[in-house]
Amino acid sequence: QTFFKPIHQTEPPSPTKRHIKITVIGTGNVGMAIAQTILTQDLADELALVDAKPDKLRGEMLDLQHAAAFLPRTKIVASVDYDVTAGSDLCIVTAGARQNPGESRLSLLHRNVALFRNIIQPLAQHSPDSILMIVSNPVDILTYVAWKISGFPSNRVIGSGTNLDSSRFRFLIADHLDVNAQDVQAYIVGEHGDSSVALWSSISVGGVPVLSFLEKQQIAYEKETLEKIHKTVIESAYEVIRLKGYTSWAIGYSVANLARSVLRNQRRIHPVSVLAKGFYGIDGGEVFLSLPAQLGRGGVLGVTNVHLTEEEEQQLRDSAKTLLEVQNQLGL
Ligand code: NAI
Ligand code: 2OP
Repeated sequence: QTFFKPIHQTEPPSPTKRHIKITVIGTGNVGMAIAQTILTQDLADELALVDAKPDKLRGEMLDLQHAAAFLPRTKIVASVDYDVTAGSDLCIVTAGARQNPGESRLSLLHRNVALFRNIIQPLAQHSPDSILMIVSNPVDILTYVAWKISGFPSNRVIGSGTNLDSSRFRFLIADHLDVNAQDVQAYIVGEHGDSSVALWSSISVGGVPVLSFLEKQQIAYEKETLEKIHKTVIESAYEVIRLKGYTSWAIGYSVANLARSVLRNQRRIHPVSVLAKGFYGIDGGEVFLSLPAQLGRGGVLGVTNVHLTEEEEQQLRDSAKTLLEVQNQLGL
């Protein structure tokens, strides 16, 4: 068995192409957090913004342009018309309704599917070779919807998925062990949200599998503590939404991190939402959910063959089933 299961790939763009263009659809809390992280991290030569509200859109564009003296040079354009997105390398979709306090991500489905019908088609038409990165919720099902509407090969349609949940997980584990979150390798896979799956069997800190790390530090292995950490991850977004109304900074960094891996061909592994059919015994239908995937200039390059326990595989299949049940009601 190979380390990666390669998936069908389209040819990456010519290495002589130098002008990198990113489009962000939706200039709300999430779209703007992503836009500003992209600018500060110097990931694009051109950034195109689209929103349905022209005044808000122009205001956001001007506000970012006014920071030009403090940032790497990026041309920033904005319009309600999709012409402005033409020739993008990466299109990030954040438009749509967000949760009210206590509301689940899945409850947004019908409102956001209706919007996607008007967003994905012109986006795909203006940038037929681009990679689509979906962020709007419920992200896994909307990634499936974007794949269907765009007609793109599945390796060029990615949902931001549990890259964010995994960051929350790594932060909480790091906080618990008093180490740096960047030294914690830990994945949450499955649905971005309530049925997500924590891969306990693959957690390591500084290259040391976490269970032996805990033993070395003479910290008793407490299954309940670890499960509590996963529960806190699931509740994180609900808590932030209750406190400040929306989440934005962490998803901004999470998506910029994915954009870097794709556009700079980093071949890094991220838990992101990909077409999961055929992996880990998921066979009930075409479902997108997060698996540890390798990202590069061609989009999704492959899915990692991490070892999952029988319990983890079962939880992943349950997560797929939950998503498929909702997805099948769409009749797409
Ligand atoms: P927001 O309400 O601040 O912004 C949404 C924006 O979408 C608004 O500016 C609105 O004018 C725009 N919009 C609505 N219909 C549009 C259309 N047809 N075309 C273009 N623009 C349109 O909401 P926020 O907080 O930015 O959240 C956006 C989405 O991101 C929500 O669905 C939210 O649940 C999701 N989200 C996903 C995360 C993830 O990890 N996948 C993390 C955080 C939020
Ligand atoms: C988040 O997890 C609400 O999906 C959004 O922050």
